[in-house]
Amino acid sequence: MSRIHSGVYNLDLYNYNIVGLINNIILSIKDYSKAHNLNVEFFSNVDECIIACDPEKIERIMLNLLSNAIKFTESGGHIKVDIHKSEDEIKISVNDSGIGIPEDKLMYIFNRFSQVDKGLHRNREGSGIGLSLVKSFVDMHEGKINVSSKLGEGTEFTIVLPVREIEDRSGNEQPIDISQSNVEIMQIEFADIYRTSILKLNKFLGG
Ligand SMILES: Nc1ncnc2c1ncn2[C@@H]1O[C@H](COP(=O)(O)OP(=O)(O)O)[C@@H](O)[C@H]1O
Ligand SMILES: [Mg+2]
Repeated sequence: MSRIHSGVYNLDLYNYNIVGLINNIILSIKDYSKAHNLNVEFFSNVDECIIACDPEKIERIMLNLLSNAIKFTESGGHIKVDIHKSEDEIKISVNDSGIGIPEDKLMYIFNRFSQVDKGLHRNREGSGIGLSLVKSFVDMHEGKINVSSKLGEGTEFTIVLPVREIEDRSGNEQPIDISQSNVEIMQIEFADIYRTSILKLNKFLGG
């Protein structure tokens, strides 16, 4: 837990192509989602959008939302990430066709330790802090996050970030090793399903 929280309070801003970053994050979990018989589709109305952001926190936001989408969507369902850039905002939505969230639980969903159904087997090893971290990371970027969901039909999380750049850093450097930190985050976030997924993945790859 302390490792997750190290660096939580400071924002390390770079001018970064967030579309490329998100595309790479999705690619990095492709085998994982395939092993769950889920395909993560990706759409964007722009190929590139440079904004001042902390790439590591954007990555954690996306991995949290994607791990939830995978965890709460049955095999064969759909997950879609959609980016829509307008003049001064970029909207990123993560859609799934999963079990959904009851309406009366939606307002608590970003609270720490809130899990809709603690008895559900697949929830047991989750920390219940994923979405509260997601929300605080979005807040740090002065962005907004919203959720809409229909029980039994699916869930959509939408993040809106301001499009702006900072003056003193270039967008071309690669401050983090994406694949390396993904392995670590997957082990934490996907907790209970990680082990099964490795088994399924091996089977999928014919191993
Ligand atoms: N995409 C989703 N579909 C259905 N329920 C979800 C989804 N994302 C989050 N939830 C609900 O919100 C709760 C909190 O999520 P989160 O903070 O990531 O904690 P955790 O994943 O550790 O349970 C989950 O336990 C689940 O009940
Ligand atoms: Mg989670």
